[in-house]
Amino acid sequence: MKWEQALQLLRFGQKIPTERTTGPALHCKVEPDPLGVVRATSICVVSGKGGTGKSLVSASLANLLARRARTLVVDADFGVGNAHILQDASPQYTVVDVVEGRRDLREVVHTCGEQLDLLAGGSGYARMAGLTPYELHLIAGGLEKLELSYRYVLVDSAAGVSSQTVALAAASDVTLLVTTPDVTAMTDAYAFLKVFLQRKPVSDPLLVVNRATSAEEAEATAKRILGVSQKFLGRQPRWVATLPEDRAAFRCTQRRSPVVVAEPDSELGLALQELAAAVDEEVGRSCARGIGRTLLQRVGYSPKSG
Ligand SMILES: Nc1ncnc2c1ncn2[C@@H]1O[C@H](COP(=O)(O)OP(=O)(O)O)[C@@H](O)[C@H]1O
Ligand SMILES: [Mg+2]
Repeated sequence: MKWEQALQLLRFGQKIPTERTTGPALHCKVEPDPLGVVRATSICVVSGKGGTGKSLVSASLANLLARRARTLVVDADFGVGNAHILQDASPQYTVVDVVEGRRDLREVVHTCGEQLDLLAGGSGYARMAGLTPYELHLIAGGLEKLELSYRYVLVDSAAGVSSQTVALAAASDVTLLVTTPDVTAMTDAYAFLKVFLQRKPVSDPLLVVNRATSAEEAEATAKRILGVSQKFLGRQPRWVATLPEDRAAFRCTQRRSPVVVAEPDSELGLALQELAAAVDEEVGRSCARGIGRTLLQRVGYSPKSG
């Protein structure tokens, strides 16, 4: 019943009390690495609904982060990946080659630029949306080694609340939830939060409102999600950025280039740079637990279980 009420409020715009919070303090739940090795901080870009701008945001964030330190982008839309298009890359291998036993994850790494590498998703592989524990374990094991060589691992998620999407988000250090003002996108953002917070109660997800046509629209969108989350989940994400609706998105996608590279001074380009600064600040506050290492601990695969 709570779920129904939450959806009603998202749809019909009733007044919802909101308060800005900074979320609970984060604690490293994972045992410290016995060897004290330094791993990349992972940032997972998620949304409930497809088409909210996750890949657009990830492409620009990746480029900006790579200017500071080595960055690995993981296209976690494993079956219908397009992160490589936005980096104008043509990788020879994809994560499908790992799952199907032809390649090691390290061999799939494709260099996109100075300090910027990519693990590409496959194109048109429906079964990649529902990996077995063993297949996820293969990817996690590869990431656990790779993450030692990077400062940032940026995960461009698939849409939805599938267990593998939520598992990747829960294993990440920073979660960036992207929504648009569209009521279906807001509803699905709330749905994602609900599932995500059940899985990872001690977390502080960040909210990005994309494709806003005015500051008022952005604020109304954020307030709605914050309010409904607070009311029904007892928690709310932290609203950190607004990205404007901007035709630069279309032009840059057609040119296969991140907005911050092709049109850095556009309204969208400038907003993405602000977002990157907010993410970097968050990274500074987060525990770098290692997405591969955390996934390995949680995937629940043992060779006996098949
Ligand atoms: N701020 C924006 N202004 C205009 N169009 C945008 C904006 N953000 C994303 N888009 C467009 O929305 C579509 C979906 O974006 P994409 O990043 O592929 O979404 P997702 O990865 O969440 O499925 C693309 O055509 C993209 O160019
Ligand atoms: Mg995408």
